[in-house]
Amino acid sequence: MKGIFVGTKPSYKVIIGARALTQVGSLIARTAPDVRKVLIVSDSNVAPLYLETVKKGIEIAKIETCEYIIEAGEKSKNIDSIAGMWGVMAENKFTRTDAVVSLGGGVVTDMGGFAAATFLRGIKVFQVPTSLLAMVDASIGGKTGIDLKEGKNLAGAFWQPSMVIEDTDCLKTLPDDLFTEGLGEVLKHAFIMDTDLYDLLRQAADEGRADKIREDDAFMEKLVSMNVSDKVSVVTEDTLDNGLRQTLNYGHTVGHVIERNSNFSLAHGVCVAKGMGIMIDACEAAGTLPSEEANKMRDLIKAYGLPVTDDITAKEAADGALNDKKKRGDTLSVILVNKIGKAEICKMSAEEFEEFIGKGKDL
Ligand code: GLY
Repeated sequence: MKGIFVGTKPSYKVIIGARALTQVGSLIARTAPDVRKVLIVSDSNVAPLYLETVKKGIEIAKIETCEYIIEAGEKSKNIDSIAGMWGVMAENKFTRTDAVVSLGGGVVTDMGGFAAATFLRGIKVFQVPTSLLAMVDASIGGKTGIDLKEGKNLAGAFWQPSMVIEDTDCLKTLPDDLFTEGLGEVLKHAFIMDTDLYDLLRQAADEGRADKIREDDAFMEKLVSMNVSDKVSVVTEDTLDNGLRQTLNYGHTVGHVIERNSNFSLAHGVCVAKGMGIMIDACEAAGTLPSEEANKMRDLIKAYGLPVTDDITAKEAADGALNDKKKRGDTLSVILVNKIGKAEICKMSAEEFEEFIGKGKDL
């Protein structure tokens, strides 16, 4: 198994490898010997597959377990679920040395982290992501939270995990659409910061292997490790999202609006892909992203089974973006890629953003 060090405060490790789920108990016992009880948070899709394996390993390590299983999906990402988790921990008399284990995708890791951040004013959380999206993005960097009816992730806390444990075997059981949506965040990393990752994805696509990468264990371990390293380097430099970390928002400003407008029926990674497509159009129309580069980016997104367009209007995108938590004052921090591998942060008013997106729509 591979370990990647995350130099935030507090620091922690991301462990990546096949069969890592069987090691969760021993890794907790070694990392946090004071833990006596854990709440395993999972969802109705993941728990039937992996809960018993994880629970057994934790109990062998002489740690008591209890569970809170949510209905799978974004609709569960709310304060009622968090209150349920607090309740189970309170009933089981958790103390400040006990911990939460989040076993699932991004909804579960965000909520398990938030329940841990807030119970007894903060207990440990071990993130055990089982989806590609959660492995490469959501579980790393300490962003935790829930959605409000007014918008996604509007309430939350920065709360670093004690460890992130990623079992790449879990990717084998992931439904196709969940695997594909994770590639939205992978492509984002390639575009904003990692030309080696771009080349790896491009080569697989050029060789007609884009829809077969999941069957290639070595490729997947490499892909996950490269993406974890990308995310780790960003969150280590800017943990609290005041500068560089905002570049991870590429495709998200419009993507979040599309996601909310679909009433969360469209997956997050799909909306990010659509949002990136709209930003590519806008940068090309503005003349800052050469058409050849824009076409390469669009082709790569499509090669991995994701969309690059949406019928959202420029006005809807700008109005929706004003509700996004990434807004600072009246200014939007818009992330642009004008060269593959390099992101820029551009401040725009809502009116400027509407005009910018509108020109891309007219392309
Ligand atoms: N998912 C974006 C971030 O962690 O900042």
